[in-house]
Amino acid sequence: MRATASAHPNIALIKYWGKRDERLALPATSSLSLTLDLAPTVTTVELSPEAHSDDVRWGRGADLRTMSAAEATRVVGFLDLVRAAAGRMEPAVVSTANEIPTGAGLASSASGFAALALAAATAYGLDLSPRELSRLARRGSGSASRSIFGGLVQWHAGHDDESSYAEPIDDGGLELGLVVVVLTGERKAVGSREAMRRTVETSPYFEPWTRAVPEQLAQMRSALASGDLRAVGEIAESNALRMHATMLGALPPVRYWNEGTIEALDVVSRLREDGVDAYATMDAGPNVKILCHRREADDVAERVRGDLRHRLGARDVLVAGAGPGASLIDA
Ligand code: PMV
Repeated sequence: MRATASAHPNIALIKYWGKRDERLALPATSSLSLTLDLAPTVTTVELSPEAHSDDVRWGRGADLRTMSAAEATRVVGFLDLVRAAAGRMEPAVVSTANEIPTGAGLASSASGFAALALAAATAYGLDLSPRELSRLARRGSGSASRSIFGGLVQWHAGHDDESSYAEPIDDGGLELGLVVVVLTGERKAVGSREAMRRTVETSPYFEPWTRAVPEQLAQMRSALASGDLRAVGEIAESNALRMHATMLGALPPVRYWNEGTIEALDVVSRLREDGVDAYATMDAGPNVKILCHRREADDVAERVRGDLRHRLGARDVLVAGAGPGASLIDA
């Protein structure tokens, strides 16, 4: 009747951008990500048989607030899926807290829906395998299918609900680090769902993107298997830039970058000129994530803090390594 789950964000090295079926959240292409060891989302789902509707609460401590019906639509829609699968009707109270700024391209929806999938499935008495959980989380937010697992994860695009799921893959001995440059914590102007739709419907670059991803994914798999960080980084950076190129081609264009994004990309180039294996990736927001060796991540973060002091203000640069998959916790 009550369950609490935790899940961590993931950052894609081969991006998911564009659906081929919106209702089932089937992606146009497969993708590959690293689950991080920072900023988990912790979500509790408790059934409330006496209530008339779901109650979705957000935040922690004094900042805890109840979401309006409009804000809670996605969560309630997701609970409806879980209830249908469990053959139950009871409304629930959902309390969730995120440690990183929500809606800024830091994949809070991935950790959010992965934690919600596990907590809700457990509270409603569904006994799901990790693969089934991944398929369920996918319906909340595509990237959430990957946060069910820890470390490196591939989401197979598949062709229907059953064949579209994520699973962990071998890291080839590479200990990856990811430095997150938080340039803004503001909610993005265009959500990834709308931005993807616009790209699929209007960008002439979308179709070529879907044709090019499988090759980059195959190259990424072999670079990872041989533990070649330089190849991993070059492919990841190129893939991220190509994703942004598809959305710049949409009408109206989707541009998530700001001045800070360019400056951070310049810092990454300078790091490489200085012999550091550092590569950039960006998601649906202006923040830049830098892929590097885990053992060099703290130095990379220091360099970024120094070079971007004027731009970062009080905002921080976060250092992450590979993190765990979603899990139930006692709370
Ligand atoms: O699952 P969504 O709707 O949050 O989309 C994620 C899209 C990107 O973060 C830009 C890429 C990815 O694969 O995570």
